[in-house]
Amino acid sequence: MKLWITRPMTAEVEARARRDFDVEIRESTLPLTREEMQRALNDFDVVVPTLGDLFSAEVFAAELKPRCRLLANFAVGYNHIDVQAAKAAGIRVTNTPGAVTDATADIAMTLILMTARRAGEGERLVRSGGWKGWHPTQMLGTHVTGKTVGILGMGRIGQAIARRCHFGFGMKVAYIARSEKSLEFTATRAGSLESLAGQVDFLVVAVPGGPETQHLIDAPILSAMQPTAMLINIARGEVVDETALIAALESGDIAGAGLDVYEFEPRIPARLIQLENVSLLPHLGTATEEVRSSMGHMALDNVAAFVAGQDLPNPVN
Ligand code: GLV
Ligand code: GLV
Repeated sequence: MKLWITRPMTAEVEARARRDFDVEIRESTLPLTREEMQRALNDFDVVVPTLGDLFSAEVFAAELKPRCRLLANFAVGYNHIDVQAAKAAGIRVTNTPGAVTDATADIAMTLILMTARRAGEGERLVRSGGWKGWHPTQMLGTHVTGKTVGILGMGRIGQAIARRCHFGFGMKVAYIARSEKSLEFTATRAGSLESLAGQVDFLVVAVPGGPETQHLIDAPILSAMQPTAMLINIARGEVVDETALIAALESGDIAGAGLDVYEFEPRIPARLIQLENVSLLPHLGTATEEVRSSMGHMALDNVAAFVAGQDLPNPVN
């Protein structure tokens, strides 16, 4: 059984992989090229791919008899893999849910606070040497206590954000999801995304990426938001129509945005970078030592189960 891990991992994950498997660990931190994706399917039994490795239907279709039988994806999101096409090619796909929940919810809170309290702008002011000192009306932001957060997508991560907002910050919680959630506090389920957008101070995107959610946040939803409201995205960039978002920010249709993900990541439009009222992070959602190790162990647990012929712990196809 030959295993290919497509990026460097934390030391403990690499050590376990080397101990337990016949593994090759790719040194590059960049996404696989098309040729490397074909190599992944042809030369290895199991591959651990991650974000940016675009296993599209064409990539699978190009291989008549792929050697690969499992893509143990290192990420909860798997919108970069066409899982139906993988299945048709006889390739299973797994992911790493659970491990990422708290860290990703923490980044949502970081962005809510940074954007509400103008923390990025303040940091830039201090570093520029231009700060003239405290005064009663200096750099006034938005108070979060008592405000309403609206959550689009109440899966594990959405619920972890809701809990933090409710218990930690005294916020009211509204959400939209396919089904009513039973939470340990009162939260309102909105009838439509448009009505959710219109009633909240912070709209947080926490749905998976992929064709079903692409551009859910578009110009009409942004214009339904209050001019004092802010958009936070910790999910996938393509859920938000970035061009429409920039227009809404420039025209003052909304007050600000906090983004950890981008439509054409890692490319970020210059118009977005020029805006003071946005907080921009480089996809840090799961970026802690502990979480990246847990994700790696989870991916390797799926590999181990596959090798032992057991049920896969985290199948997605
Ligand atoms: C990170 O974005 C993930 O999907 O785990
Ligand atoms: C602010 O620093 C205050 O003391 O109120």
